[in-house]
Amino acid sequence: MQIREVGVIGCGLMGSGIAQVAATAGFPTVVLEASEELCQRGMHNISQRLERLVQKGTLSPHEGTAIQNRLKAVTDKSQLSNCDLVIEAIIENREEKLQLWRALDGILKREAILASNTSSLSITEMMMATSRPERFVGLHFFNPVPVMELVEIVRTILTDPQVHQTVLAFAGKLGKTPVCASDSAGFIVNRLLIPYLMDAIRALEQGAGSIADIDRAMKLGCGHPMGPFVLLDFIGLDTACSIANIVFEEFREPRFAPPGLLKRLVIAGRYGRKSGKGFYDYSDPNSPKPLELDRR
Ligand code: CAA
Repeated sequence: MQIREVGVIGCGLMGSGIAQVAATAGFPTVVLEASEELCQRGMHNISQRLERLVQKGTLSPHEGTAIQNRLKAVTDKSQLSNCDLVIEAIIENREEKLQLWRALDGILKREAILASNTSSLSITEMMMATSRPERFVGLHFFNPVPVMELVEIVRTILTDPQVHQTVLAFAGKLGKTPVCASDSAGFIVNRLLIPYLMDAIRALEQGAGSIADIDRAMKLGCGHPMGPFVLLDFIGLDTACSIANIVFEEFREPRFAPPGLLKRLVIAGRYGRKSGKGFYDYSDPNSPKPLELDRR
């Protein structure tokens, strides 16, 4: 099984990162978005990141141009018909993903490998929305995709072992380190990360320390690159809350359940960095201000 052309569906934060690393690894990459405007926005973000790498001297201008030339943004699903691997990275919504896979099933070539970048939804359920569940895997990247080394490769009860091997080799070609996970909610990383992040919020609710001090403590005391609240804002509070709900639904253990403060922040539209406010206010990006404790 050979992967020659890659398709990426969705060119947001994750999709644009996945498309960038695939094109950088030499794969002609077709990116599907819902509108011309979203195509342009996604491509612009990739160009900017590539330009930064050229400025830093990590990429030559020639390589930067070659990567861009390997990328094609489209709005028509039929343009994915030649792809050998199609990676879905759309919004983390069960219904939308199932609907998309049903629609793609009649368009993608029979030998294509189908993959979802979901962080928590069931791969088994998505694969059953297609007529070729044995060719379906989870391929979970981490944000920021160009920087984070890990990819979780999720195999289901029905995944063909050859498909699994091909995807493992593909992750290696992207310069990533794959780990194999089974299709249980949260896979490996979120199963361990979510209780830690939810516990940090509970520690805050119970007065263990301030947002800034808990962040500082975990960063400097444990050598984490980001404290839990900076990381929550980075992931997106809506995303973190939705992953927590899905993992809690499967295991029914209180450590996975989203605390009240997280739910209230999401209802109030404080989604983290992407909305400008979460546990911190990013009005001044160089000096984010923590949420006032009396407004929790
Ligand atoms: N895109 C591309 N490159 C980026 C980037 C981005 N969004 N953000 C930072 N970088 C690059 C920088 O250009 C820099 O590259 P060089 O070393 O070549 O100069 C490098 O990353 C380091 O960046 P900075 O010096 O600006 O900042 P930093 O040292 O604080 O690193 C970070 C930034 C890599 C994001 C680091 O803070 C980190 O690793 N944070 C933890 C991220 C994390 O845990 N991600 C997983 C979230 S969970 C998830 O994604 C899955 C899920 O299901 C929720």
